Amino acid sequence: MPLYGPDFAADPQAYYDYLRHHGPTAPVELAPGVEATLVTDYTAALQLLRDPGFRKDARLWRGLRSGEVPEDSPVVPLLAYRPNCMFADGTEHQRLRQAVTDSMARIDSRRLTQITGQASAYLIAQFSARGSADLMADYARQLPLFVFNELFGCPAEIGDRVLSGISGMFDGIDAAESARVLHGAVGELVALKRERPGDDVASWLMAHEAGLSDEEMLHQLSLLLGAGADPLRNLIGNTLHRILTHAPGAYQDVRHAVDDTLWQNPPVANLAAHYPADDRTYAGRRVEAGELVMVSFAAANTGIERAEGQTGNRASLAWSAGPHACPSQRPAMHITVTAVDNLLGQLPDIELAVAADRLTWRPGPFHRALDALPVRFRATRVVGQPPTPIPSQRTASPKAEHVDGARRTVSSGKWSQFLSWLRK
Ligand code: HEM
Repeated sequence: MPLYGPDFAADPQAYYDYLRHHGPTAPVELAPGVEATLVTDYTAALQLLRDPGFRKDARLWRGLRSGEVPEDSPVVPLLAYRPNCMFADGTEHQRLRQAVTDSMARIDSRRLTQITGQASAYLIAQFSARGSADLMADYARQLPLFVFNELFGCPAEIGDRVLSGISGMFDGIDAAESARVLHGAVGELVALKRERPGDDVASWLMAHEAGLSDEEMLHQLSLLLGAGADPLRNLIGNTLHRILTHAPGAYQDVRHAVDDTLWQNPPVANLAAHYPADDRTYAGRRVEAGELVMVSFAAANTGIERAEGQTGNRASLAWSAGPHACPSQRPAMHITVTAVDNLLGQLPDIELAVAADRLTWRPGPFHRALDALPVRFRATRVVGQPPTPIPSQRTASPKAEHVDGARRTVSSGKWSQFLSWLRK
């Protein structure tokens, strides 16, 4: 069963319904020549996610080692091993992950509301006078990156390259060059924070007792950006989609819409790649050492009984479960609820600009992601000053150059423009 292509993107639930007939697990193809076992049952998923006999270290992946999986397959960049907590097991995982969880836990929720509010106000001001927008390109895609830049204490010139690098990687625009730009920028951020630590996640991560090396810092920060920006964009997008495709007033409270989205349409649809350490029996069938076993969070969630609108998302598998469950649920929820609330508050008459069945979804087995979310509303010019700048932004310089030895003026970058707007 292929988990790629336009038919899967158009109606993944039909695929999950079919796959459930195989029992708790089913054979799937993630891309041409890339086979995996997909867990579609909620209880079997929890069992896998909590069993240390299933490893995250992708160097165990037999298909890639044997050459059976083409190295240039589109799914390899996401699944292949990198030295960060996502691919670590046991005590090494605990060390790397503790540094992440402790640093993320230091984010003050008032500051997060303020940063998200600023980014949201700025982005809305860019399109509010137009009376129409694509909420994916104009809002959901950009907002998480602005928030991350601020949380990580990125000065203007580095932040511009983080933004353009990561956007290019996700959009597949010259992915290799974009990855180079991102790594260059994150590397510079690490050097900057070693020299001048600040009150930000990057500096807290560096100062953590785990004692991360510069190399580890680079990989951890890149993971936070990579693992955070795309799911966050899609959680905002899928929640807005949910609200705009339900009757007005169906959701009095944005949080309920986010909860339903996490259950019914989770942004990370299929992931949690694991590799059995040895041949074993799991969920009633034999799995072999090094075979790729993945969890369908989307199928597991929708396979169990739950009333729509029921509060609480703690049992939802949208954030995964077990030792590798998302360490950033709290800030991610906070950013999403604030971003959606602000948008609906500013543009109360917002509605879809096309019929709901004309919306299309990005292909690929891992994410559930809209291509675009075109909307219209009464054009308004959002006036007024941006909220008071937060301290680290006051010191950021809008002028900047220098990329990997080459001099390049990047003062017109998106992050610089945002910082200039804040200073108005
Ligand atoms: C602030 C934004 C976010 C950050 C910084 C972040 C960061 C991370 C990190 C570092 C991991 C790896 C944890 C480990 O291996 O121990 C992870 C895993 C995960 N995150 Fe997040 N995340 C964010 C937002 C989200 C959102 C919005 C979702 C979807 C609702 C999500 C779903 C997941 C899932 C399903 C996993 C497990 C992936 C796997 O095992 O393959 N995350 N996240």
